[in-house]
Amino acid sequence: MKSRHLVTGLLLGAAMLCAGPLSAQTVKVGFMSTYSGPGAAQGDQLDKGAKLYLKLNSGKLPKGVKVDLISRDDTGANPDVAKRIAQELIVRDKVQLLTGFVWTPNAAAIAPLTAEAKVPYISMNAAGVNILNLSPYMARVSFTLWQSVYPLGQWAAKKFKRAYVAVSDFAPGHESEEAFLKAFKEGGGEIVDSVRIPLANPDFVPYIQRIKDAKPNVLFAFNPAGKQATAMMKAYADLGLEKAGIKYIGPGDLTTDEELQGMGDAAIGVMTVHHYSAAADRPANKAFVAAYKKEYGEKLNPGFMAVGAWDAMDLIFYAIRAQKGKVDPDKTMELIKQYKNPNSPRGLIAIDPETRDIIQNEYLREVRKVGGQLANVEIETIATQLKDPWKEFNKKK
Ligand code: PHB
Repeated sequence: MKSRHLVTGLLLGAAMLCAGPLSAQTVKVGFMSTYSGPGAAQGDQLDKGAKLYLKLNSGKLPKGVKVDLISRDDTGANPDVAKRIAQELIVRDKVQLLTGFVWTPNAAAIAPLTAEAKVPYISMNAAGVNILNLSPYMARVSFTLWQSVYPLGQWAAKKFKRAYVAVSDFAPGHESEEAFLKAFKEGGGEIVDSVRIPLANPDFVPYIQRIKDAKPNVLFAFNPAGKQATAMMKAYADLGLEKAGIKYIGPGDLTTDEELQGMGDAAIGVMTVHHYSAAADRPANKAFVAAYKKEYGEKLNPGFMAVGAWDAMDLIFYAIRAQKGKVDPDKTMELIKQYKNPNSPRGLIAIDPETRDIIQNEYLREVRKVGGQLANVEIETIATQLKDPWKEFNKKK
């Protein structure tokens, strides 16, 4: 009896060994991020979030299934580079999924490719409100600027009379401007003026001086998270707008957590609305921040782009698990539409099946000093499980 079991066991073991390499599945995921140029700090956030997820969760894939993240540098908001890289990833590397993408112009440029090649795309950041309308194979776990700015504008209209609006001159900036103008004016506020600042190499000082001279009660601004947001904060401090009684508000891009310590005390009191703060005390966030610090160093805080990357990987893993490693594009899109995650560091998130966009909470936050460190302290949940307001306003009746 015993020896028969042994023989059967050995045969089974041998069969499994033979079957191993044959049944092994590698899911190829094209990962476009920014590793060079002025946007490299944002790309680094995507990289850190995605790789941390992979490291901690690869054991949760079905047996024999592996994810191969093929990283490429888009060098910044460069649609032509993005298109060439996406083509290479699809045709040469035969990726089954595309993810990453800091920049809206890049995501918009590659949208037709995702539809032609049927390669599902999941945005870790690119937030342009219209991107997902360009291809049925695109979905997003990050945010739209309307999600943060519209509720912020409504709140601001109750606090301030006269606002100056300053945004970066590209799609997310224009969308921030539009969302703020609508909410602030609907709430009875007055817009003193509105200015668009170039995306490439901006010098904020002349703009900030003009804003100071116009004497608004509040400055609403958007520029890309990272070094630009820090430079704008510095100009706001150096020209003494805070002392002149001009409050500074915007989406969380202005005070992103990985940059916040370098912004200095001028950031204290800045009010923002956003879906993620490293200082949030949700248990899932505490675990995420602890894992992030363990991996990358005690001094580093994850910003919202690292969380976008983490959550996108969670969605990708869910779709791979549900298909046992055999990724079919249409099935993947159907699964994405049903995705829900109560354990995101930002709280409950879900994909809106109608639009393939993210549904999430938005928090009103104030920069405060907590234990000697600047932090985006969440004060209230200003919108619960909010769908993209722009799509809601523009629904075909
Ligand atoms: C975008 O290109 O969609 C984008 C870039 C940086 C941000 C937000 C949005 O902070």
